[in-house]
Amino acid sequence: MKVLVIGGGGREHAICSGLSKSKKVEKLYCAPGNAGIAKLAECVPIGVMEFDKLIDFSKKEGIDYAVVAPDDPLYAGLVDEFKKAGIRAFGPEKKAAILEGSKAFSKDLMKKYGIPTAAYENFDDAGAAIAYLENAKMPVVLKADGLALGKGVLICNDLSEAKAGVKEIMEDKKFGDAGNRMVIEEFMTGREVSVLSFVDGENIKIMTSAQDHKRAGDGDTGLNTGGMGTFSPSPFFTKEIEAECMEKIFKPTVAAMKAEGREFKGVIFFGLMLTADGPKVLEYNARFGDPEAQVVLPRLKNDLLEVMEACTDGKLDTIDLEFEDNAAVCVVLASEGYPVKYEKGFEIKGLDAFDGKDDYFCFHAGSKFSDDGKVLTNGGRVLGITAKGSDLKEARKKAYEAVNWVDFENKYMRHDIGKAIDEAL
Ligand code: AMP
Ligand code: GLY
Repeated sequence: MKVLVIGGGGREHAICSGLSKSKKVEKLYCAPGNAGIAKLAECVPIGVMEFDKLIDFSKKEGIDYAVVAPDDPLYAGLVDEFKKAGIRAFGPEKKAAILEGSKAFSKDLMKKYGIPTAAYENFDDAGAAIAYLENAKMPVVLKADGLALGKGVLICNDLSEAKAGVKEIMEDKKFGDAGNRMVIEEFMTGREVSVLSFVDGENIKIMTSAQDHKRAGDGDTGLNTGGMGTFSPSPFFTKEIEAECMEKIFKPTVAAMKAEGREFKGVIFFGLMLTADGPKVLEYNARFGDPEAQVVLPRLKNDLLEVMEACTDGKLDTIDLEFEDNAAVCVVLASEGYPVKYEKGFEIKGLDAFDGKDDYFCFHAGSKFSDDGKVLTNGGRVLGITAKGSDLKEARKKAYEAVNWVDFENKYMRHDIGKAIDEAL
C-alpha cells in the first residue's frame, strides 16, 4: 500500500518509524515531513492545512491510506475530505474531533454521561466569568475553549490572577478565537498520566501508559510547553487503576460519542489525574500525543498499519494489541528560549551515532535540510531522544547518555525527565 502521513514533527517521525516496519507498506510519504523523516519516507512539501493540495497529490500518486496526525487538520475536517475523495484515512472525522477541539463540548459530554472530571462552568461572556470567580474556590483553572497548542490553560492562585486570566483569554484574545468561550474548573491535585488508545467507533484498546513533562524548566517550573519529555509506562497507572478507568472513563467516552452521533475512530488520548477521589479526566485529545508517541510507539509489537486500518474498518476487536515488556524514556532537545523566543537554522551534528542502534531513537521534531544537505534546527522542539531499557531506570540512564551524542547551538533540555520514577520505585 501507498501510505501518506500528514504532519512534520516528532510524533509523525515516530508514526513513520512504526509504519516503515509494516509488511503492508510499499511506499511511505509524509507531508510536509522533516529532515529525519526523510530517511524513512518521501517528504512532500505540502502544509498540513493545504487540504486541496493534499487531496490532489494523493489522487495523482494513488495513495491508498492517509494518516492524519496533528489536531488542527483533524478538527478542520481533513479526514472527511479524504473520505469524500474516496481515500481511506486514519483519524476522527470533524464531528468527532470536537472531543479535543472544544473543551466546553468535552466537559458537557462528561457531565451528561457521568464521566469523572473536575467540576466546571462554561462561559461565553467575560463579565459572567468574573462574577462567577468572585465566589470560586482558589486555585482555579481557566481554559480557552478551542485549540491553543496546549497552552490555553491558566492555573490561577487568587482572584486577581484569575480576573487577569479571563481578560487575557476573552478580551485580549491571547489564544485567538480559541478564547471566544472558556471553561472555569476546579483545581485538582494528584499524579498525571497520559493514556493513548485506539478506537474503532465501538471498541477501544488501551496502549501502554505514559507521562509527559509539560513545563519548560527542571522541577516543573517555567512556562507550559508542548512537552519536554516523556516516560512509559507510568508506574502509577496500575492494573487496578486501568480496570477502574476502563469501566468509568474509557468505555463510557467511546459509547457517549457514539450515542451523540459522533462515532470516534482513531486515537483518543486521555489526560488523566489520579486524585484521592479516583481517576478523573483532565482533557481529551483526538490524536497521538507528542512526545507521548515517541515512547509508546517504539514499544508496540503489532504492525501499526494493521491496527490503524482495524480502527478505520471497525474491526479493532480482531486485534490483540501488544507492547514490549520494557520501558522507554524520551528527552526533548529544544532551542534555548522555547516556548517563547528562539533561533533556528543551526547545524545539528552527531546524528549518525543513532544509526544501527535498536534501543535508541532520534526523532526529529523540528529540522530541515540546508541547500548543501546539512541538517539544521527548525523549531522550538528540535529532537526527541528516546531510549528503551529493561526498566524505567535503565531507559532513563540510556536516554541521558544519548542526549550527548548530538549537538547544536542553543541546545536546551530538562534534566529531570522521569525523575518521579526514582521516587516511585
Ligand atoms: P490540559 O491542556 O487541559 O491538559 O491542561 C494542561 C495542564 O494543566 C495539565 O497537564 C495539568 O497539569 C494542568 N491542569 C489542567 N486542568 C487542571 C485541573 N482541573 N486541575 C489541576 N491542573 C490542571
Ligand atoms: N504532550 C501533550 C500533547 O500532545 O498534547
